[in-house]
Parts: sequence; structure tokens; C-alpha cells
Amino acid sequence: MNLDLTDPPRAVLDILTRAANETKSPWRWPVLATQGGAYPGVRMLVVRAFHRATLEIELHTDARSAKLDELRAAPACALLFFDKGSMVQFRVDGCARILDGEARDAAFSRAPEGSLDDYRGRAPGGDPDTPASEPSLDAAANFAAISIRLERADLLVIARDGHERRFVDFTADPPDWRRAEP
Ligand SMILES: Cc1cc2nc3c(=O)[nH]c(=O)nc-3n(C[C@H](O)[C@H](O)[C@H](O)COP(=O)(O)O)c2cc1C
Repeated sequence: MNLDLTDPPRAVLDILTRAANETKSPWRWPVLATQGGAYPGVRMLVVRAFHRATLEIELHTDARSAKLDELRAAPACALLFFDKGSMVQFRVDGCARILDGEARDAAFSRAPEGSLDDYRGRAPGGDPDTPASEPSLDAAANFAAISIRLERADLLVIARDGHERRFVDFTADPPDWRRAEP
């Protein structure tokens, strides 16, 4: 993907839109970093939706997973993306909330059928040899959606003829950006 670094805010929004809408996009599987546990927590998640008007990135997970307690304890989090094809590292900082009520139901309706088995079974992280509970078959009950509000981004392009870096601040209106030393 060729990034248009003359308009970094748009480049950021375009990456997130592609991550959400293109199942083969290299941007599809970022690493979510949390800080609410004993150690920094990092794991890959699929970008399930990007709500461009509200700058919210939607991720789906198991409601019993450790990452949710970590996000409740410390909602400030980061996403790390990497596209080997274009050698672009893309980082996002934002604030997460766990969706509930109608917003959670709407997110569940966006969960692909093929992903629903991920929410059936026993709680993630338990010992499979000494299960603490019966498996739950209720995917809807175990489903959770995380919404991360984009606050700032860092685009780094690695290139033989010189690296390029841009900081983008989405807390400004309109979003502000500047060149940065790589
Ligand atoms: C390619 C790939 C995609 C994944 N997508 C998701 C996902 O969308 N949601 C999810 O909860 N876990 C996903 N996982 C598993 C997580 O990386 C992680 O192992 C799991 O959610 C447990 O994380 P936690 O114990 O930190 O809560 C994915 C893993 C890989 C390798």
C-alpha cells in the first residue's frame, strides 16, 4: 500500500478503514497492548469495524478473557500494526471501553458466523486438564466488544532512501500532524 504522507490524518483513517473492511489486508491483525495487569499485555486481534465518524476501532473478544479486566483497570491502550509489503509500522494510542447494551448487541450482529465458535467453550486461560466449569455453548453470552477511540497515531515508513515518520493528533479538531525524526 502506498501511503500518501502529504495528508497523514487521511492516511491513518484509510488504513483503519481497510483493516476493518478487507479481510486480506495486512492491517487486519494488529497487536493490542494493555497496561492494567502485572506485566504489559500484548496479543493479536482482528479489526472488526472502524467507525470513521467517531474514530472508534471495534475489536471482538471473549467476555471472560484477561484483556477485559486489564482494560477496565487501565483504559489507555495501544495498537501496533505492521505491513511487511510496504515496510510501514503504524501505532495507535487510544482509550478503550467495553461495549454494553445496544452497542454490544450491534457489535455482536457484526461478528461473522465463522467467529462465533470462538465464544463457545470454557473460559480462556483455564487448565484444560482440570476444567473449572462446564463449557458454555452460548456464544452471545460470552461475546464482548472493545471500542478504542483513536487519540493519536505514529506512522513510520522504512525505506532505503530514507525513513519517514509522522505524528498525528486526533484530539485536535481538525486533526493535527507533524513530521518527526524516525
Ligand atoms: C491471527 C490471530 C488473530 C486473533 N484474533 C483474535 C480476536 O479477534 N479476538 C480475540 O479475542 N483473540 C484473538 N486472537 C487470540 C489473541 O491473540 C489472544 O491469544 C487471546 O485473545 C487471549 O488474550 P488475553 O489472554 O490477553 O485476553 C488472535 C490470535 C491470532 C494469532
